Amino acid sequence: MRLPHRFAFLLLALPVLSLAADAPGRERLEFNAGWRFSKSDPQWITGQFDYQTLKAWILPTGDALRDPTAPRHARPPGNPGGELSYVQPAFDDSGWRPVTLPHDWGIAGPFKQEYPGDTGKLPWWGVAWYRKHFELPAGDAGRHIALQIDGAMAYSEVWLNGRFVGGWPYGYSSYELDLTPYVRPGADNVLAIRLDNPPESSRWYPGGGIYRNIWLLKTGTVHVAHWGTIVTTPRISAEAANVSVNVLTDNDTAASVRVGLNTEIFELDADGRKSDHPVATGDPVMATITGSRQASATQNLVIKQPKLWGVTHPQRYLAVTTVSQEGQEVDRVETPFGVRTVAFDADRGFLLNGEVVPLRGVCDHHDLGALGTAINERALERQLEILRAMGCNALRTSHNPPAPELLDLCDRMGFLVMDEAFDCWAKGKNRNDYHVVFPEWHEADLRALVRRDRNHPSVILWSIGNEVVEQWGADAQEGWKLANHLAGIVREEDRTRPISGAFNGEQSGYNGYQHALDAMGYNYRIKEYSRFRQLNPTVPLFGSETASALSSRGVYFFPISDNRIDHVSRSDFQVSSYDLYSANWASPPDWEWRAADAAPGYAGEFVWTGFDYLGEPTPYNADLTNLLNFSDPAEKERQAKLLTDLGRIPTPSRSSYFGIIDLAGFPKDRYYFYQARWRPELPMAHLLPHWTWPERVGQVTPVHAYTSGDEAELFLNGKSLGRQKLAAGTYRVRWDDVKYEPGEIRVVAYKHGAKWAEDVQRTANAAARLGLAADRTTLRADGHDLAFVAVRVTDDSGQLVPRAANRVRFTVTGPGEIVATDNGDATSFEPFPAPEHSAFNGLVLAIVRTKAGEAGTVTLHAESAGLTPAETILTTR
Ligand code: GAL
Repeated sequence: MRLPHRFAFLLLALPVLSLAADAPGRERLEFNAGWRFSKSDPQWITGQFDYQTLKAWILPTGDALRDPTAPRHARPPGNPGGELSYVQPAFDDSGWRPVTLPHDWGIAGPFKQEYPGDTGKLPWWGVAWYRKHFELPAGDAGRHIALQIDGAMAYSEVWLNGRFVGGWPYGYSSYELDLTPYVRPGADNVLAIRLDNPPESSRWYPGGGIYRNIWLLKTGTVHVAHWGTIVTTPRISAEAANVSVNVLTDNDTAASVRVGLNTEIFELDADGRKSDHPVATGDPVMATITGSRQASATQNLVIKQPKLWGVTHPQRYLAVTTVSQEGQEVDRVETPFGVRTVAFDADRGFLLNGEVVPLRGVCDHHDLGALGTAINERALERQLEILRAMGCNALRTSHNPPAPELLDLCDRMGFLVMDEAFDCWAKGKNRNDYHVVFPEWHEADLRALVRRDRNHPSVILWSIGNEVVEQWGADAQEGWKLANHLAGIVREEDRTRPISGAFNGEQSGYNGYQHALDAMGYNYRIKEYSRFRQLNPTVPLFGSETASALSSRGVYFFPISDNRIDHVSRSDFQVSSYDLYSANWASPPDWEWRAADAAPGYAGEFVWTGFDYLGEPTPYNADLTNLLNFSDPAEKERQAKLLTDLGRIPTPSRSSYFGIIDLAGFPKDRYYFYQARWRPELPMAHLLPHWTWPERVGQVTPVHAYTSGDEAELFLNGKSLGRQKLAAGTYRVRWDDVKYEPGEIRVVAYKHGAKWAEDVQRTANAAARLGLAADRTTLRADGHDLAFVAVRVTDDSGQLVPRAANRVRFTVTGPGEIVATDNGDATSFEPFPAPEHSAFNGLVLAIVRTKAGEAGTVTLHAESAGLTPAETILTTR
């Protein structure tokens, strides 16, 4: 077999033995269909095939991603698990459940009160098996066959035809397995994959299963290596971009081969179509690759008058690389990339193509709400569309490598990505989290992340970790050495992007961490921004995690309070949406902006979070305050004692309150707060709360407005309640003494003295009917595409009934199916897959999926007792 020796490449002009180039080219087949699933080990083997037992056979899988000068992990003899019935080709799996990947076994529930709230009260842990039969044509004999797993949660172990192939512990890493020695061309082949998701291994809902795409790759024996192209742009001017294309090629044969490598560059349009003619070509590079080795070669090309990739015009190019032997093409790979420069500057902030672009970013976990963690491109695209409309231009993949499709979308849509590796290093935050494998796997995982993602123009920043425990206690003075080590690994793989991390210890800005990084990311340390700037005048600074504000969409408590942690003791387990409340280590958005605006050079922020996510329902985790979410051991101990004194109470919450947007994708008021700041050119105003308070007549009901203007006037039933200017350091206009009377409140916003925007809230009558609105009405009939249909419970005039909780039932006719429903209520235990769901504050979501190959008309019908029903029509093509 080929030696995994990336760095031992040769570029020699030696006489070589040339092979007949009759191998067919590359095929990458989606391998998601036709799996069978069982959610347990056979009883008698429990524990016998877990990671610790098979470790010696699994470690070699990562060797291609470890320092080539370090000793390899020799695979021990034997075939672990070979005797196990589940891996045998002949095993009868007809009783197992048929599944199509990507698959998350936890999302169907049921939710249970006794399950941990911090991971979503869903059953995501445990052992599971997947099996798939597949036929390989006889003609595949002699080809290189590999399995590419974009992500499997977690500790995957793979057998093919009864023989153990390899595995990977970290559920967020993508990896490849060489199946060539195990395949049976011209016959039935059986893959068996065991996953083991340990409990107490995550601080949020991780999901369980092969939750990302998996692929079968077929190439000839001489082929571009896994993640084998590196496209960089060492010099860019208005006239020309110098493009360097480095190609690593594998020679799986025993003999030396001589290959020609050639890359042509095409322009991609917004839909990903490539130009008819290349915009850059060059002279092929010749390389000699010794038998069972790899070689890399670099070709330099020039794009004249390059179109730069940016957030408003995300121009992409496509490098098409061919490998040929004796003039005949044997492999071809396509690498999308962009031409842009990125830099952080301590005085100016973040620079894209030399211009300051403030980071208007959010952090997000990987779940897709009611769809769970099973990746779906349309669901991701919808999230980005909603974020984009808010003015968001950046995303932090907290706290782990994302699905590759997310980065493709960010490239295409112009988002800036902070690509994060880990939530912990050698010291864990949970009993079974990544720290268990950190010593043996961090290098492979980190290299896997960078090699996979380094051609994406959207990736502007690597993050080596989030709030690592190594910042605290006795480690505080030494932990930065580990940061240096990790940053060193990243730099070996990519020198074109800055490296950072997310640090919540203020001391990390002064004790050495700040110099291990190219830019310092602070989490929730608004009080440090000025001091950091003074003491580290040359180190760029940004907010890697900000706000952690809390709210439930459409919920308002009275009286309001400006004490940000005044959200406890609520028996309904909701948080008021006045956007004055946050976790006790954090702050409302206004506080962050005040600090940011006073910190010259501050590059911008990543808000915690864009969307609500499953798990971590602070402040209602398992107590009233989520007191234990501290990484500082001393602080944690202090809070634990406090918690014991308070006594734990069972809380029903299953998803977060941090989101600017709720779990179903409905914007909360906060959405418009960020929009006002992030889209200053967009005339907008937003009023809160809603204005249907029959029980509050005559009572003080404060009214707040968010606007991109600089002044606003409020009218209650036509009467002015005053015009106010936004003073420096304030970001909302407040009328805190308004006494409620039914009717309408209207805000008129001004900018530079001229009328700029308006918003109105009207008192609603009783619920009378349903209204449906689909995000898209024409869909692809591919079995993946989704329509997100929002249902509004309205009164007779179409006005949203702001506290309606009516139960809505859905039926579909035509080639579509309801895959999930939700309402964004963090306390709801209604199952996501059910075709009915109660409204939460007037809104419900239904997600409809198309059927593969079945074009036609899909009708979604929604009904609710006592209300006029509604329908929406979707066309699938
Ligand atoms: C941070 C942490 C996040 C999340 C957040 C909630 O400290 O990095 O993962 O837990 O707190 O406020």
